[in-house]
Amino acid sequence: DLLEQAKELERQLTVPASKLKEITNHFVSELEKGLSVEGGSIPMNPTWVMSFPDGHETGTFLALDMGGTNLRVCEITLTDQKSEFDIIQSKYRMPEELKTGVSEELWDYIADCLLQFVETHHPNLPKGEKLPLGFTFSYPATQNYIDEGILQRWTKGFDIAGVEGKNVVPLLKASLAAKNVPIRLTALINDTTGTLIASAYTDPKMRIGCIFGTGCNAAYMENCGSIPKLAHMNLPPDALMAINCEWGAFDNEHIVLPRTPYDIIIDRDSPRPGQQAFEKMIAGLYLGEIFRLILEDMHDNKPIKMFKGQDISALRKAYSLDSSFLSAIEEDPFENLQETYDLFVSKLNIAPSRAELEFVRRLAELIGTRAARLSACGISAICKKKGYDTCHVGADGSVFNKYPHFKARGAQALREILDWPEKKDPTEEDPIEVLAAEDGSGVGAALIAALTIKRVHQGN
Ligand code: BG6
Ligand code: GLC
Repeated sequence: DLLEQAKELERQLTVPASKLKEITNHFVSELEKGLSVEGGSIPMNPTWVMSFPDGHETGTFLALDMGGTNLRVCEITLTDQKSEFDIIQSKYRMPEELKTGVSEELWDYIADCLLQFVETHHPNLPKGEKLPLGFTFSYPATQNYIDEGILQRWTKGFDIAGVEGKNVVPLLKASLAAKNVPIRLTALINDTTGTLIASAYTDPKMRIGCIFGTGCNAAYMENCGSIPKLAHMNLPPDALMAINCEWGAFDNEHIVLPRTPYDIIIDRDSPRPGQQAFEKMIAGLYLGEIFRLILEDMHDNKPIKMFKGQDISALRKAYSLDSSFLSAIEEDPFENLQETYDLFVSKLNIAPSRAELEFVRRLAELIGTRAARLSACGISAICKKKGYDTCHVGADGSVFNKYPHFKARGAQALREILDWPEKKDPTEEDPIEVLAAEDGSGVGAALIAALTIKRVHQGN
């Protein structure tokens, strides 16, 4: 019966502690490979963010966050009060058609948003004055210096022709110049690096910045002496360098991750097959799609046909369910699963039976739990590589902030991977705690712009 089918999925989607450990160990060696001269599939991009803030950074900076869901422009004023700041911000819609559109249209749209922001908040800006901007461009980019970003490849479903392999900074600068936007682009940063720096600004125990949102990734501080691929630059071995891991690309070779047939379909039908293997099992962009593919399969191919006799045409539309659909199911009180029922009726035109409701609830739990447990492998791997037995990890993104139980499930997996003893007192901190981060692409970008200006003045 349906329960048997649920059991089979349970087998496919459950990742036991032994497997988590195996994944973590392979992850550590892949992180090292990415730093080596040969490189590997995890890019381990040097970011040229070479220090933590000391809490005394000052100045006013603009920050532009081009994430995936929103386009956000902020203005951050860092005061000389330790670790304090003021922020004003505007959010703009990121039109869906821009994500797969034409390069110039993207940069022109961003330049228009920036111009609108500056005109609203700085109507009397003296002629010739330009505001410094930290640009959070959250895609894998090669940086030979901090205000450069050669796009390695689009991720998170973006597919704009003619940008991969190019430095995006001059592309944005050209649109800014054409529209006379009084902005000077000071630094290009990744959201994870921003998260790391913003979190460390207010919490000195922070060592890693993570994003669990539309995409999934992390950044941490490395010693230059441990980055063989930068050896030719003769940087002092103990100098710091923030590394944007781009760990979404972990296991693109499919050596260790327990992929299901559904993961294989997700990859096959994505704009970049063969890329972002780890991210495709974890990130918000894909969770709803994994769920949808499984339900479709349960209707089409299984002995106990789900939603028998119902019209499932709405369910057949790819990417029609996002991770908030799963969140809502997991939040629904199990006793009656009324909200789940209503969602299926309103969104999919399907009226599930009680047994089917219980099945979809279990399925959401399995998918959400797998994502949280696999994420813990990445965090454990960085901690193992760096020898961090205790530290804080700053995390941001819609999955981390909104997906029910994501934090607790991740914490449980860390405990299993790192063999921590059970807590005696439930209020006790875990040795490695994953905490909600400060705003990385706002405050983090501003701090990085401030640190960059300081470094330039010091002539480093
Ligand atoms: C935001 C951060 O809160 O989370 C961004 O400020 C980041 O820098 C974003 O890109 C990621 O989450 P999502 O869910 O929008 O992909
Ligand atoms: C994707 C991007 C990466 C980003 C992450 C989270 O993995 O490639 O740069 O940090 O999503 O937004």
